[in-house]
Amino acid sequence: MTVSTSADDRPPLDRPPLDLAVLSADDALLPGLRVEVVEEAGSTNALVAEWARAGEPEGLVVVAEHQTAGRGRLDRRWETPPRAALTFSVLLRPRVAPASWPWLPLLSGYAVGKALRAVGHDAAVKWPNDVLLGGRKVAGLLVERVESPAGPAAVVGIGLNVSTTRDELPVEQATSLALESGGAAAPDRTALLVGLLASLGESYVAWQEGGADAEARLAESYAAACDTVGRDVRVDLPSGEPLHGRASGVDANGRLLVDHDGRTTAVAAGDVVHVRAQA
Ligand code: BTN
Repeated sequence: MTVSTSADDRPPLDRPPLDLAVLSADDALLPGLRVEVVEEAGSTNALVAEWARAGEPEGLVVVAEHQTAGRGRLDRRWETPPRAALTFSVLLRPRVAPASWPWLPLLSGYAVGKALRAVGHDAAVKWPNDVLLGGRKVAGLLVERVESPAGPAAVVGIGLNVSTTRDELPVEQATSLALESGGAAAPDRTALLVGLLASLGESYVAWQEGGADAEARLAESYAAACDTVGRDVRVDLPSGEPLHGRASGVDANGRLLVDHDGRTTAVAAGDVVHVRAQA
């Protein structure tokens, strides 16, 4: 007998909604964070940017159960099925000097990787802030600066694939927590969100309030979690040009240092491909 396994025959995926009671409990979140869950949104980054322009103080978090026009880095899109992922944005108003702002995307990717490691996933960061499991991308971040009458703000947008199936992922190099968990039930998105926000908050506070050494400490922690340094890479630069070389470090401004043709180029933006495993 042949058993058909068309999409229609599969058992429905269990994708419960976020637990609003947990998220609104007094001690669930770091002080100052306020979570709004919306059923559907085009882009949570766009929503939070609007709030920022209207003067909202830092700490607002908007989560979409279904994000339909998510924005990615380098003008890409980020789309996920309803309740299969965590798609959310956090409004921050950093008080650090403008020269330090480029660290925020790296700090955020580092914090997501740390939160996933805390719940047993062997997460690494690909410069600047893709989060990888087993070499595949499980989370992407888009950090955008917004000008507002109350001063500049940052919107930290995070997309994490939770129960997304292989068929639902847009590219072969992507993965989800469920796919990497060897058949275990998909983790609870509410608990994950609480853990991600705690990790982000902790790294953010340490960076802002850690005094003169805070950035050096962040640079050290980031380098330890970053899987790119030491690898042969191809960087697709915003100009469209590829840069081939070996990633040798991250400079004081968070730029990726790439050794090639007898010299070193500091890359501020680009899409990195890990070409060969680290020796
Ligand atoms: C990337 O890897 O290209 C970044 C993807 C960032 C996606 C997140 S999902 C929540 C937030 N809202 C958006 O529109 N984008 C970010």
